[in-house]
Amino acid sequence: MIAIAVTNAKGGVGKSTTAINMAAALAERDYKVLLVDADPSGNASLGYRAEGISAAGLADLLVNDTLSPMELIEATDVENVSILSPGERLAHCSDQMGSTTGLGHGREFRIRRILRQIPAGTFDIAVIDTSPVVTPLNVAILYAVREVLIPIDPCVAALAGVKALEALIRDVSDFRKEFTDSGPLNIGGVIVTKTDRTLVAKQIENEVRNYFGDSVFPKSVPMSVKFREAYARGIPLVIYDRAGQGASAYQDAARILAERWGLEVPKVDDKASRKKAG
Ligand SMILES: Nc1ncnc2c1ncn2[C@@H]1O[C@H](COP(=O)(O)OP(=O)(O)OP(=O)(O)O)[C@@H](O)[C@H]1O
Ligand SMILES: [Mg+2]
Repeated sequence: MIAIAVTNAKGGVGKSTTAINMAAALAERDYKVLLVDADPSGNASLGYRAEGISAAGLADLLVNDTLSPMELIEATDVENVSILSPGERLAHCSDQMGSTTGLGHGREFRIRRILRQIPAGTFDIAVIDTSPVVTPLNVAILYAVREVLIPIDPCVAALAGVKALEALIRDVSDFRKEFTDSGPLNIGGVIVTKTDRTLVAKQIENEVRNYFGDSVFPKSVPMSVKFREAYARGIPLVIYDRAGQGASAYQDAARILAERWGLEVPKVDDKASRKKAG
């Protein structure tokens, strides 16, 4: 299972929206996707469950070693997407991970251990949504994933915040290489979100593209009220507004990631061509 964390220490940049829609876009390509909601606010889970989410989730796995993740992972209405809710006590657990005893003990590896309890072959990809600000929980997530996906909202100081995140990624990466077998931590992609037609947004998007180069997905995600409409209904935008530019940006990013990971080549296109042939 390839795990990727959607992260940015800045709030409101589109992390949860990106986690929701990348999960759906990857699932559309026939990959089995687990969306892990590691933000106590539960925004990513609510994107699939507008009516409300389970009280039990990641938090319960953090406090109870005898529980298996499979007991708490739930199917969604979207084919191939399952979710793990944050659990009501996640904020509390996250605070406790800051101590050096109790939940803080071996904290770097707690998420890694939970993901490893999922039987091989159950999911192809785990997409993890994270909360803004750097917490011990978020650091533990960086120890558990292969890559990070960084959404950037092209507003003033967008790049400054991301440079701090890059420094953290480098530190974790060095530690991982030295002390674990999980190899370096890579930036799997940067996606420019919530773009508009203003000059300042264009300028900052250009700066982001110059700075991160090929890591930035070619299509950016435009601002659209459809995102809020989709979210309120508990449907990922890539399904709700399939033909829109926002969906297209996430579908494109999913295709590029799957290709970079060397997963089987485009299954969506295969399906389309099979239909034509049939
Ligand atoms: N492309 C977009 N166009 C319009 N609205 C968007 C877009 N992307 C996200 N939003 C909206 O912006 C708000 C913040 O997005 P989101 O919750 O994904 O950000 P976040 O980085 O996860 O925030 P937090 O740091 O609070 O977890 C939400 O109301 C979401 O619906
Ligand atoms: Mg969020």
